[in-house]
Amino acid sequence: MNLILNTIGASVDNDMIRALIPNQEVEIIDTSDMKIAHCMGCNQCWLKTPGICAIKDDYECILKKLVQADNLWLVSDTHFGFLDYKGKRMMDRIMPMLNMTIGFRDGWMRHELRYHALNIGLLYKGDAEQSMMEDWCKRTAANIGGHSLGAIALEKNPERIQHPQLSTLNSQLSHLVIINGSPRVAKFSNTDKIIHSFAKGLEEAGITWELHNLSNRKEWNAAREAYLSHERTLIAFPLYVECVPSLMLEFLETLPTARKQPGELSFLLHGGMDEGNEFRLCERFLKGLPAQLGCSYGGTLIHGGSFRIRTAKADVVAKMVAPYVEMGRLFAQKGNFHTPEATKFTGPEQYPWLLRKMVSLLFLKKVNGEFEYFAKDWGCTRPLDDKPYRLQ
Ligand SMILES: Cc1cc2nc3c(=O)[nH]c(=O)nc-3n(C[C@H](O)[C@H](O)[C@H](O)COP(=O)(O)O)c2cc1C
Repeated sequence: MNLILNTIGASVDNDMIRALIPNQEVEIIDTSDMKIAHCMGCNQCWLKTPGICAIKDDYECILKKLVQADNLWLVSDTHFGFLDYKGKRMMDRIMPMLNMTIGFRDGWMRHELRYHALNIGLLYKGDAEQSMMEDWCKRTAANIGGHSLGAIALEKNPERIQHPQLSTLNSQLSHLVIINGSPRVAKFSNTDKIIHSFAKGLEEAGITWELHNLSNRKEWNAAREAYLSHERTLIAFPLYVECVPSLMLEFLETLPTARKQPGELSFLLHGGMDEGNEFRLCERFLKGLPAQLGCSYGGTLIHGGSFRIRTAKADVVAKMVAPYVEMGRLFAQKGNFHTPEATKFTGPEQYPWLLRKMVSLLFLKKVNGEFEYFAKDWGCTRPLDDKPYRLQ
């Protein structure tokens, strides 16, 4: 069955959608008026009520349909040349379709599937970069065991090619605005721990900094003001379904596209999986973003393997975030991440075969065990691979 989630409602014709998927069973759901929140990364769908999202809104009925579907087509508008926040939000909420446990599938580190594989396609409006949309479909489908059904532009627009505008600031860094783009409440956010470690390096060099958390909407105005009134802003955030979390996209969509004074945006991107390749599509998006906001691009610091910060003991967490102090020191000197050290910080693009075997046996077994332990502590009474919604 083909499930079509239409996030833009009547501005796209259902008959046109049906014509693109001929001779197949199709169910179209118009989600444009539905009440659907952003995934907040609470992990309850993995560790407390396996397979069931903690947010009680209209997404629950979509999740039940996804379990019955073979193919998911997302109909979305675009912004900054990528999915807009409403389209991306649909995919960020898909996490209950996976288990938290991690293994290697087709040579890549991935979460295990809770149900079956799902193929993913995209029908998009607006001027996006076609190859980026195709790549996003491929990567997102692979995460859920399926293949890409393709990315189809619904309108003929000039293709947007994202060109980064490299650093133009001549001034020394003295103050850094840091925005935590994680949807997870700050005190539990892995990004928060990474930021504080990075900031130690800034402080040692006498750089002042301020922090704003997007997980708290009350901080959005102050975050916007700080970004507009200072030269340098660093947005630190976790990878969510191959790119920026939908909550952060929503915030970015509220920023003006021009500035009165020069500004530079740098990014600190981290995520659950270890391998550098996991982050490349998002990095490509980030390279093109600052120019669309009237800023120059200060580079992206990338590092994987952060999912465990949430569940590991304090001494292990301290070791995991310690290398960011040095990165803070270097950023203090240069004011950006265009340095060989920052590039090297990412680690391997893909684990070679032997290392994959070793990581599976020695590391992932331990980590997956840690998840079980954590779930018990949270009062979880179901197996972590439970399937609460049955196939009909
Ligand atoms: C909805 C969702 C999607 C995610 N998608 C990815 C992903 O595509 N690749 C990845 O490596 N990690 C992914 N992660 C893992 C997070 O990037 C990782 O756990 C991160 O440390 C969370 O940081 P935070 O606590 O500051 O939110 C995802 C997590 C969530 C909740």
